[in-house]
Amino acid sequence: MKRALACLLVLFCFLFAQPLFAQNGPAPLIADPPSRTRISLDGMWNTIIDPYESGISSHFYENRKPASKTDLVEYDFDRSPKLKVPGDWNSQDEKLLFYEGPMWYQRSFSYQKKANKRVFLYFGAVNYLSRVWLNGTKLGEHVGGYTPFNFEVTEQLKDGDNSLVVEVDNTRHLEGVPSIHTDWWNYGGITRSVKLIEVPETFIEHYSVQMVKGHSEQLSVSLELNPGYVKLGIRGPDMSPTVEIPELHLKESCAESDRQGVMFCDFRAKPELWSPENPKLYDVIISAGQDRITDHIGFRTIETRGTQILLNGKPIFLRGISAHEEAPYRGGRAVSVDDDRTLISWAKELGCNFMRLTHYPHNEDMIRLADQMGMLIWDEVPVYWEIQFQNPGVLDNAKTQLRDVIARDQNRAAVIIWSIANETPIGPERNVFLKSMAEYARSLDSTRLIGAASDKATHIDAQHMALNDPLGEYLDVIGLNEYVGWYFGKKEDADQIQWSFKYQKPVIITEFGGGAQYGLHGDSDTRFTEEYQADLYRHQLTMLNKIPALAGMSPWVLMDFRSPRRTLSGIQDYFNRKGLFSDRGQRKQAFYVLQKFYDEKAKQAAVPSPSRQ
Ligand code: GCU
Repeated sequence: MKRALACLLVLFCFLFAQPLFAQNGPAPLIADPPSRTRISLDGMWNTIIDPYESGISSHFYENRKPASKTDLVEYDFDRSPKLKVPGDWNSQDEKLLFYEGPMWYQRSFSYQKKANKRVFLYFGAVNYLSRVWLNGTKLGEHVGGYTPFNFEVTEQLKDGDNSLVVEVDNTRHLEGVPSIHTDWWNYGGITRSVKLIEVPETFIEHYSVQMVKGHSEQLSVSLELNPGYVKLGIRGPDMSPTVEIPELHLKESCAESDRQGVMFCDFRAKPELWSPENPKLYDVIISAGQDRITDHIGFRTIETRGTQILLNGKPIFLRGISAHEEAPYRGGRAVSVDDDRTLISWAKELGCNFMRLTHYPHNEDMIRLADQMGMLIWDEVPVYWEIQFQNPGVLDNAKTQLRDVIARDQNRAAVIIWSIANETPIGPERNVFLKSMAEYARSLDSTRLIGAASDKATHIDAQHMALNDPLGEYLDVIGLNEYVGWYFGKKEDADQIQWSFKYQKPVIITEFGGGAQYGLHGDSDTRFTEEYQADLYRHQLTMLNKIPALAGMSPWVLMDFRSPRRTLSGIQDYFNRKGLFSDRGQRKQAFYVLQKFYDEKAKQAAVPSPSRQ
């Protein structure tokens, strides 16, 4: 009897208690394929800068108007300044360039409720902490500036006028991910699109359609339906989902499910394989009950063999570049497909087949564009420099960001590497933290490689440097950041240096480089001249090309980007000047040095050779 009561209680909690909890955290992230019915809430939003955060006690979220002439209401969104969403506030208004703190956003919209429809309010990203109210009801909070989140608003939505209020706070915190020190601008705001997504009462919450690791003729599909009761295997009307790939004349039922209610199926398929040279995407249609979605998915395999990276079973050299999500020409967060296309086109012009998107997940359009344009992607979460590795809440936060970027980008063929960290200090808490992150990433996606960037190389002697960072044990690919000729030593020192690595795994030089102000010229020993940067690249490429385990590189960095740490007036002016492009899109001399090197690498790769590509 007691046992039956306990089971009933668990069942009750599972089926009916969920909405009660939603008040604090977002709902599970729902898949947002292009075919979803969406209503954009982008545009000009009312804003109130609130450095002392008086908006909470003054109930800004009520968006109240004075009821009478005696009624005291000390805010009025409709008369407040407007800011563009998506967009950071720092680059939209000169006086907000350095602003870090709370900012209130409000917009009204009208909506027509529909029968048998559920609605989710979806944010592409908000930096950093966001609190969200709809019609005065708190939906919940979200932490993390670079991953999507959503709330179910089916109940809270009204027929007709609705008022949405979002408090955004980009204040940096020691326990944050990232923490208080970064070398990029802490752009605040609703930096990516906001939309309402309409779905049937039971819908496809998440799906992944991938090649089985190492099998280029076996597809594996997993998907989850929402609401949860399906997860308990209690089927309503027959939902069993099907997966169709019309171009391959494939239609498969996918009804098997595991204990968690995740449905899955595997089947043979012989798609044209996706690669940077041939970014082939297929329409994939998944149906379940009333729900039907279409996505555009490419199929490829990615794995390692010794110190080589294999794409579709063949060794590949990653001709890469690192890049921030900074808008070309105007600065600020890149927000549009045009911004993204420009950045990828510049990388293509350099001769790249690979981009390291740093140090946080960039917008989804960028990843989908990489799929379409044929650019391999390193996708990173902002476990950057010193964070509180000993703090369990920080690990939860980092894992949540990892879970959400994997859920968002899992079906993108372009993404080959999940990166769990950049330049973190070696130490027992950190090692345990990153081991746990690597295992978590693998548990969510066993088809891709796990990487991280370490700058913990050591000098053996003047001619020998080594990377023995214990982090390498947990990774599939080793990332090395080294700044020989900029932060230490002379450019020419690179000519003598031999590198060794503790782990026999593929090595990617995830960062090297030096600063140059576009148009500043002089002899090649003068810092910040284009000549210095170009010469540094020549010495670097000679050194790196001698590394036997070298499987790729992504020099630092595609374009000059804003950083609060770069204060050298007349040269940096709050920009990190290590770009091969200036922030105005001008190509520096070093651009041509790398372009030539990649051109040779591409030619080499085109000539099949027995040993190494
Ligand atoms: C580091 C770091 C970057 C930084 C770069 C630099 O390696 O990973 O985020 O911008 O060095 O110093 O320019």
